[in-house]
Amino acid sequence: MDAPAATVLIALRGITKVYGHGAAEVHALRGVDLDIDEGEFVAIMGPSGSGKSTAMNVLGCLDTPTAGHYLFNGVEVGALNQDQRALLRRHYLGFVFQGYNLLARTPALENVELPLIYKGLARAERAALATEALAKVGLAERAHHDPSELSGGQQQRVAIARALVGKPKVILADEPTGNLDTKRSHEIMELLTQLNRTEGLTIIMVTHERDMAAHADRLVYFVDGHVEHDGPHHELDQRHRERG
Ligand SMILES: Nc1ncnc2c1ncn2[C@@H]1O[C@H](COP(=O)(O)OP(=O)(O)OP(=O)(O)O)[C@@H](O)[C@H]1O
Ligand SMILES: [Mg+2]
Repeated sequence: MDAPAATVLIALRGITKVYGHGAAEVHALRGVDLDIDEGEFVAIMGPSGSGKSTAMNVLGCLDTPTAGHYLFNGVEVGALNQDQRALLRRHYLGFVFQGYNLLARTPALENVELPLIYKGLARAERAALATEALAKVGLAERAHHDPSELSGGQQQRVAIARALVGKPKVILADEPTGNLDTKRSHEIMELLTQLNRTEGLTIIMVTHERDMAAHADRLVYFVDGHVEHDGPHHELDQRHRERG
């Protein structure tokens, strides 16, 4: 295993993931090597079933790989126990999903406060941090609205505020614009770009849309459980043109 350079925040080496047993075995990941530096904005693309969500679940410590090494900030994640992995998630990672995953009939502010409850902060402190996070996504004035009173784009902003409130190093977003129209999707991309630039947040995002991936600095393309291409997106355009 190569020693990662000082700025590398995330290093995957030979990550495999096999679901099921025997005849039902599915090789979701077949040896993924990936280095992500602190402060990068990375888009992950690839055909359906190529392992993108599986890789995100491994990166998010929501699932454990079958084999391989995952180093986060130089720490071997595979050597952590369940509680230590939960702490890593809570302190360093924020999650954004396609379906927002907000609690219904619960105001935006309380949705955003949720991750802080596990940190044992006092109510007033939670509210202050959640208000700050809502302001960062431009929704301070919607703090007391329930999700049903917000547009899809606004609901995703609330979800992004919830991901931000614990001041993570990394945001993991699996198809964050999958339920949004093109205009709202670009707005969410602009918000992520701004958070990446101004807060120095590392962002790893899965998308099916080239136009959304183009907001990122780097494109990682999965095929059949491994990384087929990794680099600036214009390189992939070039390769597709060459192949006709
Ligand atoms: N819990 C599971 N049990 C069994 N097989 C699974 C499980 N999760 C995923 N798979 C399989 O692993 C492979 C990779 O799935 P994954 O969800 O990572 O793909 P994906 O690239 O995210 O696809 P999509 O673009 O459709 O979201 C697929 O063949 C899928 O059917
Ligand atoms: Mg997926």
